[in-house]
Amino acid sequence: MKITFLGHASLQIEINDISILVDPFISGNPKASHIDVDALNADYILLTHAHEDHILDVETIAKRTSAVVVSNFEIVSHFEKLDIKGHPMNHGGSWGFEFGKVKYVNAIHTSSFPDGSYGGQPGGFVIEGEHKNIYIAGDTALTFDMKLIPLQTRLDLAILPIGDNFTMGIEDAIIASDFVECDKVLGYHFDTFGYIEIDHNTAKSRFLEKDKDLALLEIGESMEL
Ligand code: NI
Ligand code: MN
Repeated sequence: MKITFLGHASLQIEINDISILVDPFISGNPKASHIDVDALNADYILLTHAHEDHILDVETIAKRTSAVVVSNFEIVSHFEKLDIKGHPMNHGGSWGFEFGKVKYVNAIHTSSFPDGSYGGQPGGFVIEGEHKNIYIAGDTALTFDMKLIPLQTRLDLAILPIGDNFTMGIEDAIIASDFVECDKVLGYHFDTFGYIEIDHNTAKSRFLEKDKDLALLEIGESMEL
C-alpha cells in the first residue's frame, strides 16, 4: 500500500493497481499548486464529508477518470445527479471492494455542501487492503467511538487531523492514537489556512514523548506500508 499526501486532507492510496483518492481539494490549495489535478489517476474517490475543502475537485476528476465516488448516501446522491458513479454507504457499514474492505465510521463534525445543502453526517474510513489496515479519521473531534475500531481491526497506520480549530489538535490526536491502538500516525488537515497552522517540530516531539511516531509528509511525498 502506497500513500501519497496531496495537501490538506487529500490523499492518494494505491493498493495493487487500484488508485483511490480521498477528499480531493487540490486546485483550491495554493500550497499544492505543483500537483497536477488532470494527471491524477482515480478508480475510486472516497469522501469523508461534503465541505468544500474535501470535495472541490471531485467533479473534474470523476468525469475524466470515471471513478466511483464512495461516501455517505447524501453525498453519493449529490454526485449521481451530476452523472458521476457512486457507491453509497452509511455509518457502521462495510463493503468489500476489489481493493479491500472499507468501513464508514463515525466522525464528530458537520457536513454541508458549499451551497449550504445537507451533506449527510460526516465520517471516516477504515480500509483493510493488501494485508495493511489504515484508518482515515476525516475531520473529527476526539471521540470515544474511536475505541470501537481496534475491537475489529489491527491498524498499521492512523491518519488523523492535527490542525486544531476545526478538528482535533495535536494533544487530542495523541489520545486518539491511544484509542485506536496505533502508534504510527500520519498527520493531515494542517497548515492550509491560518486557523490550522502548526509547529511541525513541536507536534513531532509531543508524539515522540509518548513513544509515538508522527509522520508529516511534504505535499506530493509518499510513504509505503
Ligand atoms: Ni470539514
Ligand atoms: Mn476540512
